[in-house]
Amino acid sequence: MVRLEDVQHNPEVEVLMKKVHEYLATMLAITHDEEHAHHVAKLSYRILKMLDYPEREAELAAIAGYMHDIGNVVNRYEHGRSGALIAFHLLMRMGMPAEEIATVIAAIGNHEERSGFAVSNVAAAVILADKSNVHYTRVRKEDEATFTTRDRVNYAARESFLTADPEKREIVMNLEIDTSICSVMEYFEIFMVKMLLCRRAANFLNCRFGLVINGNHML
Ligand SMILES: [Fe+2]
Ligand SMILES: [Fe+2]
Repeated sequence: MVRLEDVQHNPEVEVLMKKVHEYLATMLAITHDEEHAHHVAKLSYRILKMLDYPEREAELAAIAGYMHDIGNVVNRYEHGRSGALIAFHLLMRMGMPAEEIATVIAAIGNHEERSGFAVSNVAAAVILADKSNVHYTRVRKEDEATFTTRDRVNYAARESFLTADPEKREIVMNLEIDTSICSVMEYFEIFMVKMLLCRRAANFLNCRFGLVINGNHML
C-alpha cells in the first residue's frame, strides 16, 4: 500500500515540489511550498476523519492534498490538470492500484476554482483544505504597493481555520481579517468563487458550509 510518507519521501516528488516553489517565486505568486502541501495534506485527512470516513479514504485525501499543486512545475495555468497527469505517472510507478490513483488524480484535477468540482469525498476534502489556507505568511511580496487584490486579501488574513462538526454535519471556515488592510467586501470580491466551491464541496460531504469572518456569520 502506498502511504503518505512514501509519497513525501519519493525523490522525484521532492524535486518537483522544490521546483514548483522555485518557479512560482519568479512570479512572486503566493507560496505553494512544502508548508502549504503539508497543511493541505493534514487538513484533507482531518476533514474526512472528523466526519467518520474510512481511514484509507482519508489517507488518499492526504496524498492528493500533498501533491495537489505539483502541476505548477509545468505552468500556473491549469496546474490541476497537469498535476493530475504527473501524479498518475508517479503513483503508477510507486505501485498504487488504479482505483486509488483515479481517486487521487480526480481530486488534484478538480481543486482549481475555474473548473473544479467535488467529484468524490476525497476531492471535496482537498478543495476545502486548500481554499481555506488563506494566510498572510503566504504572501511573498514585501512592497505593499505591488500587492494585487489577491495578495492583499491573503495579507489581511491574520488567522484562518476550518472546523467540522460530525453531529451537526457542518463545516465552518473561520477567518480573522485585518479590515484596515482589506475590507470584507474585497474579500468577497476575490474569494466568492472559492467560497461557492467550498460550499458545494461541503454539501457533497452531506454538510452545510458556514463562513465566519471576525466572529460574524456570513454564510
Ligand atoms: Fe492549486
Ligand atoms: Fe494549493
